[in-house]
Amino acid sequence: MNGPVSFPVRHLSLHNSFLLKYLALFGSTGSIGVNTLDVVRRQPDRFGIRYLAANNSVDLLAQQIAEFRPEAVAVNNREAAALLRSKNPGCEVLDGDAGLKELASRANYDIFVGALVGFAGLASTVEAVKQGKRVALANKETLVVAGELLSALAHRSGSDILPIDSEHSAIYQCLVGEPENSIMRIILTASGGPFRLTPTESFSGITPEAALRHPKWVMGRKITIDSATLMNKGLEVIEAKWLFHQPLEKIDVVVHPQSIIHSIVEFVDGSMKAQLGMPDMRLPIQYALAAPDRIAESYDRLDLLSCGPLEFAPPDLDKFPCLRLARESGMRGGLYPCILNASNEVAVHAFLEGRIKFTDIPEKIQWATDRAPLDAAAPFGCGSDEEIAAGLERIRQSDVETRVAVSRLIG
Ligand SMILES: NC(=O)c1ccc[n+]([C@@H]2O[C@H](COP(=O)([O-])OP(=O)(O)OC[C@H]3O[C@@H](n4cnc5c(N)ncnc54)[C@H](OP(=O)(O)O)[C@@H]3O)[C@@H](O)[C@H]2O)c1
Repeated sequence: MNGPVSFPVRHLSLHNSFLLKYLALFGSTGSIGVNTLDVVRRQPDRFGIRYLAANNSVDLLAQQIAEFRPEAVAVNNREAAALLRSKNPGCEVLDGDAGLKELASRANYDIFVGALVGFAGLASTVEAVKQGKRVALANKETLVVAGELLSALAHRSGSDILPIDSEHSAIYQCLVGEPENSIMRIILTASGGPFRLTPTESFSGITPEAALRHPKWVMGRKITIDSATLMNKGLEVIEAKWLFHQPLEKIDVVVHPQSIIHSIVEFVDGSMKAQLGMPDMRLPIQYALAAPDRIAESYDRLDLLSCGPLEFAPPDLDKFPCLRLARESGMRGGLYPCILNASNEVAVHAFLEGRIKFTDIPEKIQWATDRAPLDAAAPFGCGSDEEIAAGLERIRQSDVETRVAVSRLIG
């Protein structure tokens, strides 16, 4: 759909000009948002902030406004927005879902950074893609639930969607200059999470505190739990399908506990390319903002002589059923990935609140996908604006219905 015949970024070399590029950073108070602001802080001649958006974190937003002087911010929670207005009378503050959507649809920024978490990121990303912006996307759930429709929209508007996820950034970097038909297989690496070596019999006793201790990455709470169940890797398999226009059969997962190789592409001639680096999200963020350029930076360097032996193993789908469930939903297509995602978001939230067990997460997802409506796998029409709008509305309704049903089930 939106697929370039070969990968580099199709038409943008952002830094051929000396013009500052302005960001609309959605999710500025989260883990990706804060890392993105550090990239901007280090590169004041290249990047500036035009808009920020978040949900609740008023104090941090106020600090970010003071440092980066955005033209406007959007805060989803209306009470938080009112509080922020009272603290920052000089800054325009929009609120609610409509406020986020409006900010994303404004014309006077260059790069949209999608760093909201979960389904909440979809509406603003759709607006940015419609505007034809470069979209640096961390919010994988958006591509999971609506990858086909977003690809169609991007194709129409000329928007480039560049991954921030480290695995997809690695694949993107491996594909630069390679013809699309030379790809044999995409191999996503997975750290295996904190319970790689934990016996399955102990899984029902896993606490939120234990699941929040990721061995390699410091991230937001939702993605950290997704990493512990391997749902994160399942979502990434579907994300890769839409970013790189490859069938799911050509996307594999291999467990690589050292997280040094961020992912691999195997080509038709048997050659493999991998991207290696320190586990630091500022690298893929910076690449998504600047690609195809590379900006000299002083982040910690990988020392090959001290990173130890690199191990690889197949994922254990019996121990981590979420990865299997995600692949199955991806294969079915239509609304299935949306139902998978919504049930996972509700179940993860309930687990973090101590209302269900770790092992209940895949059970709730299985329950939700088993009761999907008969027409759930029906493909979306992408031929016209009306069809795309109808498809997005179908997804929105399915997300709501699934959340209600799984929340009732959990009680
Ligand atoms: N963290 C990583 O290293 C990493 C790596 C790869 C991919 N990703 C992906 O990047 C996305 C963000 O992850 P994260 O770890 O940065 O999450 P996070 O730390 O939980 O941050 C989420 C951000 O989204 C905002 N937000 C959440 N719900 C919102 C809503 N309904 N309306 C408006 N803003 C909302 C939060 O605002 P408040 O602070 O005000 O609540 C916060 O700024 C996820 O999709 C994740 O899978 C993350």
